[in-house]
Amino acid sequence: MSWNTFGRVLRFTTWGESHGAAIGAVVDGCPPGLELAENDIQPFLDARKPGQNKFTTQRKEPDAVRILSGVFEGRTTGTPISLLIENTDQRSKDYSEIANTYRPGHADYAYDAKYGFRDYRGGGRSSARETAMRVAAGAVARLIIPEASILGYVAEIGGDKADPANFDPEEIGRNPFWCPDAEAAERWEGLIDNARKAGSSLGAVVECVASGVPAGWGAPIYAKLDSDLAAGMMSINAVKGVEIGDGFDAARLTGEQNADAMSPGPDGPEFAANHAGGIAGGISTGQPVACRVAFKPTSSILTPVESITRDGKATQVRTKGRHDPCVGIRGTPVVEAMMALVLADHKLLHRAQCG
Ligand SMILES: Cc1cc2nc3c(=O)[nH]c(=O)nc-3n(C[C@H](O)[C@H](O)[C@H](O)COP(=O)(O)O)c2cc1C
Repeated sequence: MSWNTFGRVLRFTTWGESHGAAIGAVVDGCPPGLELAENDIQPFLDARKPGQNKFTTQRKEPDAVRILSGVFEGRTTGTPISLLIENTDQRSKDYSEIANTYRPGHADYAYDAKYGFRDYRGGGRSSARETAMRVAAGAVARLIIPEASILGYVAEIGGDKADPANFDPEEIGRNPFWCPDAEAAERWEGLIDNARKAGSSLGAVVECVASGVPAGWGAPIYAKLDSDLAAGMMSINAVKGVEIGDGFDAARLTGEQNADAMSPGPDGPEFAANHAGGIAGGISTGQPVACRVAFKPTSSILTPVESITRDGKATQVRTKGRHDPCVGIRGTPVVEAMMALVLADHKLLHRAQCG
């Protein structure tokens, strides 16, 4: 089994490689009757697309999406929705030198060990080109959950944190880092520029908050909303950690500090805090659903790194080609998409059981 499908009721399958003719997704289980056109998807792809500024990879892909099926007269029909993006700016010769070498931090060795075969052009299937299709599928998912408002942003780059006291949602779209703190964005410009010029890279922490999620989405035990969220986020390239709510910090609090005290309010329960990230017992509480996602620094760096060739000889790898100095930046729309896909799936799952 090759596991290219995610979701329980709303299921999406992605296909394609970095340097193949095209990449695509099939979104199955979408309710019928929703208005859907390419224009509903394209803005989210534009937010993720490469080559937009000097802080991301210079690969230039228009990432223009086409809907091939599942929509008739502007509405979803309930049948599989096929989405397609053509690859237009592949430069496979950039990768000819590493055809027989394993790039540390990439999936090269692991794919070869598993399949005995690999498409080395741009990482093949392991390339984050695939994440464009998650963003496209995520745009469809958003139409299923109009009650939820999803906000993703970069909270930290290279260990330098945005200050929550400076949090301004308007600022997120104003700088190239999805940073909610104007002062941090200014610092990050220098940070990323230095890393890029040195051919180095930096890690990042992305936060994502979904407000408007009603209480009751999720399921106990094996389909917990938090475990599905963690799986979805962890499946994104370069993600090495996921926290729900306070995450690891909760382990450093006392029970009193960590309690999300409740009181009666005019529209239902009110909570004094949201350490749990809007989820209890695997089910949403009506508070914002919040997670933090840790992206490792881009593995492709100009500094030579010790490695081995396919036939086991020692060598060094110095990755040329076009790369993001901090993949967490372009990872932010992908995190939002996975949040939308998990929430939409759980809304439909909840409806299936509880009406
Ligand atoms: C949006 C996005 C863009 C990425 N671009 C690059 C890149 O330019 N260079 C690179 O080395 N890794 C990049 N990555 C990460 C690799 O795809 C990933 O590290 C690699 O496939 C190994 O998988 P793993 O880190 O999940 O174990 C990117 C990740 C994301 C989410």
